[in-house]
Amino acid sequence: MSGSKEKRGKFTSNLGFVMAAAGSAVGLGNIWRFPYLAAKYGGGTFLIVYILLAVTFGFSLMLAEISIGRKTGLSCIGAFEKLDKRFKLLGIVNAFVPAIIFPYYCVIGGWVTKYATVFITGSDKKAAGDSYFGGFISSTASPLIFFIIFIGVTTAIIILGVQNGIEKASTVLMPILVVLTLGVSIYSMTIKGAMGGVKYYLTPHMNELSVKCILAAVGQLFYSLSLAMGIMITYGSYMKKDTKLAVSVRQIDFFDTLIAFLAGMMIIPAVFAFSGGDRSAMNAGPGLMFITLPKVFESMNFGRVFGAVFFVLVFFAALTSSISLEETVVSVIMDKYHVSRIKAIIWTNVIAVVIGVMCSLGYGALGFVKIAGMQILDFLDFTSNSVIMPIVSIGICIFVGYFIKPKAIADEVTRNGETFTEYKLFYVMIKIISPIFLIGILISSILNSLGIITM
Ligand code: PHE
Repeated sequence: MSGSKEKRGKFTSNLGFVMAAAGSAVGLGNIWRFPYLAAKYGGGTFLIVYILLAVTFGFSLMLAEISIGRKTGLSCIGAFEKLDKRFKLLGIVNAFVPAIIFPYYCVIGGWVTKYATVFITGSDKKAAGDSYFGGFISSTASPLIFFIIFIGVTTAIIILGVQNGIEKASTVLMPILVVLTLGVSIYSMTIKGAMGGVKYYLTPHMNELSVKCILAAVGQLFYSLSLAMGIMITYGSYMKKDTKLAVSVRQIDFFDTLIAFLAGMMIIPAVFAFSGGDRSAMNAGPGLMFITLPKVFESMNFGRVFGAVFFVLVFFAALTSSISLEETVVSVIMDKYHVSRIKAIIWTNVIAVVIGVMCSLGYGALGFVKIAGMQILDFLDFTSNSVIMPIVSIGICIFVGYFIKPKAIADEVTRNGETFTEYKLFYVMIKIISPIFLIGILISSILNSLGIITM
């Protein structure tokens, strides 16, 4: 498996690793999707369920992936194979996930870049218009230009390498992200009429606790922690052997949940105030960030500044996530084909640009192309998130729980004398509870897409 021409990159410190992994985890999922789900599933109820799951389910799955990476020192294709030859296929399937997501994530990253530019340059009035977003994504040149800018910035950081690119960028961007998020959420709470939203967000409405709420929280957590994407395995393989594994996982988990919580504090009160307390305003789904929020910003004092800061912070969050996606694909290509980093980067970009251009045009010039009734971007999103990722994660649970055994992960955690206090929890989660949850999200998302149930 070795023989790659270049020495494998390594993060220099625990902090660098935690920032990079948290950078991957914190993304559009935290900022846009979490608040919207929390508003939909009972505010405080969803929060409690989510936090309970984060410290049990999320912790266990993330620990498993990072340990597999650090133990083998390889990205996902090689890692599974090295531990058990029979699981080679699982690694291959896993490697497809970031390769599918990376191109369309950059298309959405391009939309965020566009909105940040619009607010910074002061053309935000237009962006609050009803048909602005639809007009933008269905045009040809503009979304393509912003897609290329976004993928270009991501690639520039990847070219600089694990230490000088990913680690440095994450250690600078992540603290800025926290400060901006805190600032925006505090301002958001001071808006007239916002307190109703804060109250709704924080109060548990236990009558709204349902299987759907739990499944939505599991699905969100799973996506939010960048699980089943090969990312945590790859980043784990760049971890030094003497760093603390379980401690790092707890920190990443905490960081990701904190930003999701604060994102709710920025968005829910502002939308509440804007809609005069109408909860359904939060249910705008994907349109929330690009259609509803610009209107909300437009209606407030200092809306332009607020909007500009907001979209810049979303841009940083999306950038550190797309970095982790590209790095995972590059790492797989380097490990598998023993080519130089730069060659692997070129291959990755050529493929990503071709797929990304198709996704981008899928809303305009290629609008007639439908796969299984979905637009190209939606189809890629559906196959990766709702089908392949739960399957990969179930595979990882079986692999760890019943083949290499939870003890193998415990050995990796404790190899430097670190105590693994949650071992029993981890054991039960990996062997029994997580697979049940994952089968639940797999079945429900397929039924949902077939229109048999609505989530
Ligand atoms: N974890 C990211 C989020 O919460 C999602 C993501 C990360 C998607 C990396 C792709 C790649 O938004």
